[in-house]
Formats: sequence, C-alpha cells, structure tokens
Amino acid sequence: MVLGDARDGWIKSLLPKGLLGRSLLILMTPMLLLQIVTVLIFFERHWDTVARQLSRGLAGDIAFVLDYLGEHPGDEAFDWISHNARIRLQLDLVFEPDAVLERQITRPSFGLVSEELFVALNERLQRPFYFDMDIDDRLLEVRVQLRDGVLSIIAPRKRLYNSTTYIFFMWIAGSALILYGVAVMFMRNQVRPIRKLARAADQFGRGIDVGDFKPEGAEEVRTAATSFMAMRDRIVRHMTQRTALLAGVSHDLRTPLTRMKLELAMQGSSPGVDALKQDVIDMERMVDAYLAFARGEEGEQAVETDIGKLLTDQVGGHLRDGQQIDLHIADHLIMELRPQSIGRCLANIMSNAGRYANNVAIRAGRRGHDYEIVFDDDGPGIPADKREDVFKPFFRLEESRNQATGGVGLGLTIARDAARGHGGDVFLEDAPGGGLRVRLVLPIGQ
Ligand SMILES: Nc1ncnc2c1ncn2[C@@H]1O[C@H](COP(=O)(O)OP(=O)(O)OP(=O)(O)O)[C@@H](O)[C@H]1O
Ligand SMILES: [Mg+2]
Repeated sequence: MVLGDARDGWIKSLLPKGLLGRSLLILMTPMLLLQIVTVLIFFERHWDTVARQLSRGLAGDIAFVLDYLGEHPGDEAFDWISHNARIRLQLDLVFEPDAVLERQITRPSFGLVSEELFVALNERLQRPFYFDMDIDDRLLEVRVQLRDGVLSIIAPRKRLYNSTTYIFFMWIAGSALILYGVAVMFMRNQVRPIRKLARAADQFGRGIDVGDFKPEGAEEVRTAATSFMAMRDRIVRHMTQRTALLAGVSHDLRTPLTRMKLELAMQGSSPGVDALKQDVIDMERMVDAYLAFARGEEGEQAVETDIGKLLTDQVGGHLRDGQQIDLHIADHLIMELRPQSIGRCLANIMSNAGRYANNVAIRAGRRGHDYEIVFDDDGPGIPADKREDVFKPFFRLEESRNQATGGVGLGLTIARDAARGHGGDVFLEDAPGGGLRVRLVLPIGQ
C-alpha cells in the first residue's frame, strides 16, 4: 500500500540509523514506558491520598476554630483563638463583622487539590464558604459565613501541597539520566569493535594493508572479526599464489621460446618460417607483458598519495607531438593507494587514447564517496557489445590488429585489475564527441 509505505518511510527516517542509537532506543523505550506508568499510578493513588489527607487536616483545623468561636463568643476568646491559631496551626484569622459572603462555592471545581478541599470543607463546616487557592504565591484564603459576619482564614499553601513531590520527579528524572549514561557508556564499548571491523573490511576492499587487530567485544563480533581476518589471509594467499603462478609460467616459457627463436634463425628465410618467426616474437611479447604485470603486482604498499599530482605526472609523460590533452582537476585529494599500480592504470588508459585517438580531455574530481577520473577521446570508440571483451587479456579489436598500433591487449586488463584492487572500477562509455569515454572510479573511503 502506497500510503503505508510512505508512513513507514517517514517513521524510519525519524529512527536512528546507527547501531548505538538503535540499541539505546530499544533499551530506553521500555524504561520510559515504565516510568510513565509509575508516574500515572503515583498521581492516581499516592497523590490522591495525600491531597485528601492534607485537605482534611486543614478543614478539620478550620472546623475546630469555628466550633471554638461558636462556644466562646466575645472579643477576648477571639483574640485567644486567633493568637493560638497563628502559632499552632499557621492560620491567620480576620473577622469582618456584619459582612456577607460575596460568593460561595457550592460544587467542586476542577483540579485535584481544590476538589479535595471542597469536599473536606463541605463535610466539616456545614456553612456557606468560599476559598481562593492562590491569593498570592504562598497563601490561600478560606472565607466562611458566620451568623454575625465573615471569618477569613489565611493559610500557607504548602499545608495543602505535598512539598516532597518534586523529590519524586527528581528521582525519576535523575535515575533515568544515570541509567541513560551507563547505557551509553556500555553500548559505546559494544559498538566500537563493530565499527573497527567495518573500517578494516572497507580498507581491505580498497587495497590497503590492514594488519591483524585484536578481536574485542561480544562473542559474535569477535567471531566475525576472527572470520574476517581468516578470510583476508585466504584472499591474500590466493592472490600471492596467482601472481607467483603467473610469474612462474611466464618465466618458464621464455627458455623454450628463446630456443625456438634460435632454431628459426638457423632455418634461413622462407614464407612459412617468416610467419613462424613473427608468431614467436608475438608470443615473447605476451610473455614479457605477463611477467611485467605479475612482477608489478608484488608487494606494493598503499601510501598517502595526492591523486591529482599522480594524474598530472602521468599526463606529462604521455604527451605526444601534435596531440592535445586537456586536463582539468577539480579536487586534489590525498588518498591511500598504491601509486605504481594506479599510475600504471592511468598510463594504460592514456596510452590507449594516444594510440587510438588524437585528442583527449581529462576531468578529475570528487563525486560523492568516490574520486572519478573521466577520459574523453576523439577516436573510433569501442562498440557497446565489445566493451566487456576488451578487458579480457590479449583481446584486441580487429581494426587495431595492425602493426602501427601493435599492442599486446593487456592494457585495459591491468587497468581494471588495479582499479578493482582499490575497491574501484573502470567503465567504458560513449564520449560526447563520438570517441571513447573511460571512467575510472576510486572509492575515497569512510
Ligand atoms: N581509447 C580507445 N579508443 C578505441 N579503442 C580502444 C581504446 N582503448 C582501447 N581500445 C581497444 O581495446 C583494445 C584493448 O585495449 P588494451 O589497452 O587492453 O590493449 P592494447 O592497447 O591493444 O594493448 P596494450 O596491452 O599494449 O595496451 C585495444 O586493442 C583497442 O582495440
Ligand atoms: Mg592499451
């Protein structure tokens, strides 16, 4: 459902993305719910009871004063009770003779405390009364209609309000904060090894030597780290083996090839022998190219390299007479890479442009999480259905199979190998001018 999807997406966008945020959310949500429920119960039960008790206490004191005044008329008795009420009950009494209550309260008003006070006064006084909960920020007033006037009783507000309520809230908020802090601390420690593992995997993918690190954290994370290191070792071993095999085969082939060359030289010259000679020369070139490639692969370490400078250097070395190279570098970036390997990749792409085209425009710069170098030339281009084939070793297009352009067919193979060894890739596309566009993409890393 489209609406549901949109809503899901909206909720998802609000939720934290990282593991730390998510686990904290999982941890804190039940705790918060628990606290809300606790507070609600507190309001319902505890605070209710306290408010009722306090209201009854105040109403009882007022009733006592009224009863005393009823039993003991006269100024002397009023002075005595007013004095004692002030020091013993915190009540200030003011008598307004012959006054009539301007208004009275006959039904409970909104608010827990005032409701309880109404009920308590209504039950105990049995006379018309009026009260004002906040005549100022510390006092409240109760006015009662007596037979010969109005008695105004001023009492401190805190007689009705539970002054320890804030301790409860402080406790709730404080404990939540402490719990939250402890959770953040512990979760951070759990998330750190996962981040470390992710970084190691990313670096290894970009061809940077990671080295061993100590697996830490929860058991599953440790297992993942150990498995990652075992996998990395297997891949490295596999790559070393492949290179060694390639170098070994190429090297071993050279001896019989040299022997064949010598024997052919002694055969003199005839059309069949000449063709054979050419084949042997071609084979020797291929073997040499393989050997150079296999040797170059070995043991180069990734170092911090200014990719823009590497490109400029390569361009300088490939300028041919009458050829135009238009170089535009938007960002100079320091990246961790194997400079010889990437240098060879750039050189191969540029030597192709030099060989199969006249002019080339190069644009380099950052693009999202990648560094991108685009080579546009004005040559014949490569048909779309051949763009995968030219990456295969020794594959050359028919039209380039002439002596003038004599290459081996390893250039793009090596270029892509180098790019992929850094977690990137080489793509072939159409250049706007009709030639070939080669796009080299290298991830910058986290
Ligand atoms: N810029 C280009 N324009 C047109 N065709 C190209 C271009 N670059 C490569 N090609 C085609 O792709 C083929 C493979 O290129 P690759 O660089 O792998 O080999 P090569 O240039 O023939 O030999 P070398 O190993 O000496 O580089 C080339 O033979 C050529 O036909
Ligand atoms: Mg080439």
